[in-house]
Amino acid sequence: MTHEDLRKRIHEANIRLHEVEAKYYDRIHPDIINKHERERTVSTLKRVDKIIKRNQKKALDFGAGTGNLTGKLLHMNYEVTAVDISKEMCEILKERYKRFIDIGKLTVVHSKIEDMTFDRNQFDMVCCYSVLHHLPDYLGTVRELTSLVKKGGAIYLDLEASPFSWSESERHPTMTRVRFVSDWILNYLTRIIYTRGARVPPLDYSMSDYWNKETNHIEHDEIRNIFEEEKFDYYVREDYYLYRTKIPNPFFYAYEAICKPDMSLWIARK
Ligand SMILES: C[S@@+](CC[C@H](N)C(=O)[O-])C[C@H]1O[C@@H](n2cnc3c(N)ncnc32)[C@H](O)[C@@H]1O
Repeated sequence: MTHEDLRKRIHEANIRLHEVEAKYYDRIHPDIINKHERERTVSTLKRVDKIIKRNQKKALDFGAGTGNLTGKLLHMNYEVTAVDISKEMCEILKERYKRFIDIGKLTVVHSKIEDMTFDRNQFDMVCCYSVLHHLPDYLGTVRELTSLVKKGGAIYLDLEASPFSWSESERHPTMTRVRFVSDWILNYLTRIIYTRGARVPPLDYSMSDYWNKETNHIEHDEIRNIFEEEKFDYYVREDYYLYRTKIPNPFFYAYEAICKPDMSLWIARK
């Protein structure tokens, strides 16, 4: 497969997946929509906000989806440009935050991030959550995005598998399995409650989540190299444990005590 074919297939898979997923997104993602995760992202956004210099509160949320980060940024008084490849995701986002569109605080753009042409050095914050692994050339995109950040502004990338997720020597296979199975059972129960019996069509993540596999995964060292080459004055990767359920899972704490963190985020300032 040529590079161009691969790019096309990944984009098409994302459009197809999110066309269906949009309607159920907040109900079938207890891994994202839960109290722990909400508190973690709000406090991380506040930390990013604090390190920005001369902050004029202009943000780009790419792969914005139904507005997980966008909504939080709006409530932090940011003016947000939200970009997403999925028409259905954009429609939900527009509907949900209509009042912010009406007062000029939110612009929703239905586009691939790769097709966007923004003026350089214009955003105080560029962020994405659970998006890099959906992009054909995530490193190329991160490099492009660094040019959009103002001097003193920041990039915040979150919810990507940590390097430990894929390294056999760092995992504890039994505990990983116990956690995986218990999360699955709890999420199955939650799904019955939250989807109120709705029949969610089968969803195929194989091509859309292209870089979220043992064989091809996010290379965190390459991301660090970009921040280094683009002369960001501060950059840090933080690894953490994703609390993946709405219903408390007692095995989470055992997993946390025994295993290495499963997720990573990046914060970088220009
Ligand atoms: C897992 S969802 C995350 C949504 C949101 N950021 C959140 O926090 O819930 C991934 C999102 O990325 C979008 N996406 C995938 N590829 C994209 C691309 N090339 N350009 C823009 N958006 C993209 C999808 O349509 C989807 O809404």
